[in-house]
Amino acid sequence: MSPETLPVDANSERTGVTPLAAVAARDDSEISQGLAEKPVFAVRDLSVHYGKSIALKGVTMDIRPRRITAIIGPSGCGKSTLIRCFNRMNELIPGAQVSGEILYHGEDIYASGVDPVVVRRHIGMVFQRPNPFPKSIYDNVAFGAKINGYRGDMDELVERSLRRAALWDEVKGKLKKSALDLSGGQQQRLCIARAIAVEPDVILMDEPASALDPIATTRIEDLMQELKQEYSIIIVTHNMQQAARVSDETAFLYTEVDAETSARWGILVEFGDTGQIFTKPRDKRTEDYVSGRFG
Ligand SMILES: Nc1ncnc2c1ncn2[C@@H]1O[C@H](COP(=O)(O)OP(=O)(O)OP(=O)(O)O)[C@@H](O)[C@H]1O
Ligand SMILES: [Mg+2]
Repeated sequence: MSPETLPVDANSERTGVTPLAAVAARDDSEISQGLAEKPVFAVRDLSVHYGKSIALKGVTMDIRPRRITAIIGPSGCGKSTLIRCFNRMNELIPGAQVSGEILYHGEDIYASGVDPVVVRRHIGMVFQRPNPFPKSIYDNVAFGAKINGYRGDMDELVERSLRRAALWDEVKGKLKKSALDLSGGQQQRLCIARAIAVEPDVILMDEPASALDPIATTRIEDLMQELKQEYSIIIVTHNMQQAARVSDETAFLYTEVDAETSARWGILVEFGDTGQIFTKPRDKRTEDYVSGRFG
């Protein structure tokens, strides 16, 4: 999508700046001035319904920039539901309804006039199962940039993205070969290369390593440490050691159950520094979960 086709709202008419384009225009001097410590996301009283059932209730949290934030909790507690809110992916699910606010660098991504496609250009996503397109390795990485009307050197962009995703050396001799012929771990790194090729600001990862072997998992974890120099990363993981190893901050979600109706929904029980969550949790439920007493 070219900048001319970005959506406009009342504010943009006043300032001449389109929603989220203001973010793209940020330069690194802001970071050196300490402004980067403002949250990348401010989540306020976020709830999600699927049809009539509530899946997630009243989540409030700030996500810090250039950190890895882990979302942990038992199956069905709403981790995927929460992470999908950060780039409006829930909208693709019929019947899903999001209420509350998510401010992205201070801008409400759910405000009328904000185009979800633009949101997803800034906030990329990597899924649990690698999902390369049935195209060549090169075309997978170039895909988003082509759609966005990228005018730079495409070969250079593809190489740079594959290098950053720690895949270049393994594929440089076969860029025109099908992405589907790569191994699972390579496909997942290709999906990361595809996500970073559009130069997002945030990368969302929903259990990115759960289908991978320990070696491929380690590569993805190392890669995340590299990437957090430039990106904010939010990762859902079932693997507690992984959360403790890779993340700076951890959010623990848990399922509440209504005794009368048996309705179940997820809440954010505790959110904080990963070391604190794993060694000095404030809430008994967090303590029981991280020590493996339930889950
Ligand atoms: N597409 C959907 N349509 C209807 N209900 C859904 C949908 N996706 C999730 N839910 C419901 O929302 C609740 C939270 O699901 P979610 O997938 O977010 O949990 P999760 O914590 O990611 O679980 P897991 O660890 O198993 O991946 C569950 O009760 C689930 O049944
Ligand atoms: Mg999930």
